[in-house]
Amino acid sequence: MSHHVLVLSGPNLAALGSREPEIYGTLTLDDLQGQVVDEAAALGLEATCRQTDDEGELVGWLHEAAAAGWDVVLNPAAFTHYSYAVGDACAHLVGMGSRLVEVHLSNPAARETFRHTSVVARSATGTIAGFGAGSYLLALRALAAQDR
Ligand code: DQA
Repeated sequence: MSHHVLVLSGPNLAALGSREPEIYGTLTLDDLQGQVVDEAAALGLEATCRQTDDEGELVGWLHEAAAAGWDVVLNPAAFTHYSYAVGDACAHLVGMGSRLVEVHLSNPAARETFRHTSVVARSATGTIAGFGAGSYLLALRALAAQDR
């Protein structure tokens, strides 16, 4: 059975391609998710990709992963900076034994001050930021390299 990874993207990431391309690049979310699925398959993983603008839906997906024992690659987008609900769901996920990689396309530490805080980071197994879609692919590689 191949190792299942849930790859979650938060609010406004459905607009990738046209959203501030000087920051986020011109790849669409479909392109990015296609790369994720291909990279996962090459690594012997099985990736499922989802995106939502809804905080409650994201919390629900994190609980689903916790219950199923799936690892998660999460770009919480703006929720990163203020959603204690998403942060607590991440703590629950990792507490249940899943691994969590926080990813960002841009490098939030190099941007506005409000982006310097992550309420997810305290629970994450690790964080990868600043490599565009490559951040997601590197996250998959990290999970595969440490496979349990
Ligand atoms: C982001 C960075 C966040 O600050 C921002 O709110 C996003 C995208 C990134 O991938 O670089 O929506 O998570």
